[in-house]
Amino acid sequence: MRGEQIVLIGFMGTGKTAVGSRLAERLGWEFADADGLIEAEAGMPIHRLFAERGEAHFRALENAVVARLVARDRVVIATGGGAFADAENRRRLTARGTVVCLAADPETILARVGDARSRPLLDGPDPHGRIRELLAARAPIYALADVTVDTSCLSVEGVVDEILGALRRPAPARG
Ligand code: S3P
Repeated sequence: MRGEQIVLIGFMGTGKTAVGSRLAERLGWEFADADGLIEAEAGMPIHRLFAERGEAHFRALENAVVARLVARDRVVIATGGGAFADAENRRRLTARGTVVCLAADPETILARVGDARSRPLLDGPDPHGRIRELLAARAPIYALADVTVDTSCLSVEGVVDEILGALRRPAPARG
């Protein structure tokens, strides 16, 4: 494992927050949830932030939070599903962190996000189609992770076991 920072990326509903929190507990590290920090700082949930201030404002807050979090050590950082799509965030998150992508199939994602109204990017007439579209658009970005774990059929504990197992194996040469 490079450094003492694990960064969880991946689509909405892949389990980044639940897995990140348990992974941090198992490692005895701090857990930092980027979306949670944004909500605390903005004083409102993300769907309201999108509705009242717009996505660009949310993305600016997201970049500021990422910039702060990457300075920490012995930390598991859960990012929002779109954070890694930004080049500046990518540069910061890969500088010292081991990047783990959590994946899931579109049907599992749809079932897990439940009320899509709390996810502004899925709040439309066809959330399933939107999930497929966004997954396809982001696939090349998510593929940059050091490790990918499909969480569709795994419990939180099972995903954490997979991640820890993968991180113990020697890393393949990059590039
Ligand atoms: C987003 C994912 C959300 C949240 C925001 C935008 C995205 O986070 O950051 O709604 O662009 O995929 P989760 O992945 O934690 O749901």
